[in-house]
Amino acid sequence: MEAISFARGIPAPECLPVEELADCAQAALERDGATVLSYGSSAGYGPLRDWIAERHGVDPGRVLVTNGSLQGMVFLAERFAGERVLVEAPTYDRPLKILAAHGVETTPIAMDDEGLDLDALARGLESGRKPAFLYTIPTFQNPSGRTLSAERRRRLAEAARERELLVLEDDPYGLVRFDGEAPPTLFELEGGARVAYSSSFSKTIAPGLRVGYFVLPQALERELEALATSTYITPVLIGQATVFEFLRRGNFEPNLERVSALLRTRRDAMLEALERELPDARWSRPQGGYFVWLELPEGADAGALLSRSCPARTSAALRTRRGLRSASSPRTRSEKACADSQPSSGSR
Ligand SMILES: Cc1ncc(COP(=O)(O)O)c(C=O)c1O
Repeated sequence: MEAISFARGIPAPECLPVEELADCAQAALERDGATVLSYGSSAGYGPLRDWIAERHGVDPGRVLVTNGSLQGMVFLAERFAGERVLVEAPTYDRPLKILAAHGVETTPIAMDDEGLDLDALARGLESGRKPAFLYTIPTFQNPSGRTLSAERRRRLAEAARERELLVLEDDPYGLVRFDGEAPPTLFELEGGARVAYSSSFSKTIAPGLRVGYFVLPQALERELEALATSTYITPVLIGQATVFEFLRRGNFEPNLERVSALLRTRRDAMLEALERELPDARWSRPQGGYFVWLELPEGADAGALLSRSCPARTSAALRTRRGLRSASSPRTRSEKACADSQPSSGSR
């Protein structure tokens, strides 16, 4: 039996534009092979860096293109090793592990249905050391599927300015929207002085290309670029040049529409199944992205439910009293379970 992972944002095989990317990779090598097969800039493939800079209205010197955006998180953790970082509760587990591995103290800030709770953020800012930054995923958050409301975005952008708080807006899912109007990003609202922005082509083109990026204040970009130099000299330019060719051909928007339609069907199937099977539970109704957040009624055993629903050892992420963990054979009683709406046969 084929296992379906409900724990992570992994594109299903049919989401990947395999043939088009094969053609793009070949064209990229033919056009610019001597550049992309050599060592080059630590900040990434020049034409892609320029494309990203233009899209976000910044100087290309502020853009760092990395081997997946998670690699940039490692550089940030190195840069702010031993400091304090505010994070959403719950949040994407991998940054938490990366930050912990660099001795960064993380302070969880509560969320509700509208995203980050700004009163809880104010309390987090007032207690403890001044944080190096706030890590937030405002749109179709991993793992809750929640989106920060437009009003809170404005207030958070203002708070970043007033309190001189660096905010990292991680936004790999924002373009994978099925319904509704996109709210402005924090980066757009604040202007990019206090808000740094990261995104990735993992969910919009293909994760195996390993192309993510950061738009940073200039000084921080230089510092992270130096860390990139001493880590890998040059990121994988062939992946970046393949992405650039895909963009240059005008394939990006049609691919977003195609992928969004595939994911919308999965989201709808998940919501219908929840309606049918768990009428007493509550869940988020994301307008895009990969994640649905499920809250079981008080006293329900999420671990037991997971074993009943996952005879093929399908995985999900459980939020237990001790934190979030991935699970394929649950052992402890849990308060909440979350599952993404993305069937896929892979694991990472
Ligand atoms: C919120 C968030 N940020 C970053 C990433 C990692 O992206 P990349 O594949 O570019 O490393 C993911 C992947 O699941 C994610 O959910």
